[in-house]
Amino acid sequence: MSSDSHPAPVSRSGRFGSGPAADVAAFSESISFDWRLWRQDIRGSVAHATMLQKIGVLSARELRDIKSGFDTIAQEIEGGTFTWKPELEDVHMNLEAELTRRVPAGARLHTGRSRNDQVALDIRLWLRDEIAGLQEDLRSLQRALVEFGARHPAVIIPGYTHLQRAQPVYFAHHLLAYAEMLERDAGRFADCAHRANVCPLGSGAIAGSTLPLDRELVATLLGFVDAKGRPRLTQNSMDGVSDRDFLVEFCASGALLAVHLSRLAEDIILWVSTEFGFIRIADSYTTGSSLMPQKKNPDVAELTRGKSGRVVGNLMSLLMLLKGLPMTYNRDLQEDKERTFDTADTVRSCLRLMAAMLGQTTVEPAACKEAASDPLLLATDLADYLVQKGMPFRQAHHVVGAVVAVAEKWGKPLDQLTLAEFQGVDPAFGADVTGVFRLSEAMARRRIIGAPGTQEVRRQLAAWRKRLSS
Ligand code: ARG
Repeated sequence: MSSDSHPAPVSRSGRFGSGPAADVAAFSESISFDWRLWRQDIRGSVAHATMLQKIGVLSARELRDIKSGFDTIAQEIEGGTFTWKPELEDVHMNLEAELTRRVPAGARLHTGRSRNDQVALDIRLWLRDEIAGLQEDLRSLQRALVEFGARHPAVIIPGYTHLQRAQPVYFAHHLLAYAEMLERDAGRFADCAHRANVCPLGSGAIAGSTLPLDRELVATLLGFVDAKGRPRLTQNSMDGVSDRDFLVEFCASGALLAVHLSRLAEDIILWVSTEFGFIRIADSYTTGSSLMPQKKNPDVAELTRGKSGRVVGNLMSLLMLLKGLPMTYNRDLQEDKERTFDTADTVRSCLRLMAAMLGQTTVEPAACKEAASDPLLLATDLADYLVQKGMPFRQAHHVVGAVVAVAEKWGKPLDQLTLAEFQGVDPAFGADVTGVFRLSEAMARRRIIGAPGTQEVRRQLAAWRKRLSS
């Protein structure tokens, strides 16, 4: 062995004269990031060993030794006393080698198994756990949105299209739009978890095994089961070791979630600006400027917006990673993990920070009221008023446009025109036109499902609270 090469890991023990060169080892190791799969790797190995005992490859005693060996190793990893060895490449070889050093039966553990199906298993188990955690964080952010809205149920703000004032909406209605988006994100993650919940173990390196492995037992032990408790197994060994489409789905769901969070962040950044002034974020969730003493910046929201870029990038990286790979396993696939981990970690921290920040944010009712009392926001209501009087909507749209032009010409707010001025544009206007501009009445008039009406938003808030209470 040359002085700059590593000792041969078990995967090279028979075939190779030496370990890999040091730079090759450093280039190809994955333990620096895949160590975090250790719980899943041990879980998978214990299930595999249980099955090996059942089919007679391991004795009951050997299985016991393997289990207790892994128990001790797990305690050491938890306690921070376990030493990961880069020369053993990855989490799979580190754990197996350490087990075998302590327990002779460890040498039988890899029977009928390859790192190719092992890693496909570990990442599926990890994804399942991770998605369950993410769902909790998604719920927490939904709760924060709903509670923020519920703290200010009567606050009305302008709704915008093209970032131009459009129509009045309840502040809560605006927030609940995000609760809806997050609900669909949760659905996408659930779909992804369902499709990933299939056991690949038994696929071997590429072509299964000549040994009578009980795949159903392993799948059942690891919870890869359908609603009726029946095992779910990958049905093609080549597919089982080579595809990572479930990670693409995860990263795509994560990217879409990150984009939703980025939009929420952008709204918050706008609202907290002096120009809008609709909300105020507590000092503890803002940062200052090193130069400008007056600054209070919404960095949590800005970073959430910024980090969405890398989450989208992770999805692109994964897609490019898979594109053009010949069947079946290729070492390229090791590159799936950092992108996937980064997506999970990033969206999780964004969800948590945004939820915490919303809990520390208050509405500035005066600024909202000032903005929402712009009578132009009710121009569409004015057209609806004419429609109620029997006018075709296209004509009403034209008439109201002309009224707006008159108001502009006289430099008057729309609701300050006299009846004579309204009727000068069209005789269909009556004395009741002033009622159109009473904002609280205008909000009460929005009675249909999904509209920002007084009753409807109250109903939606109550429904969301109920849905999120469990
Ligand atoms: N560390 C590898 C990965 O993440 C494990 C599988 C290695 N398999 C192999 N044939 N070299 O993909």
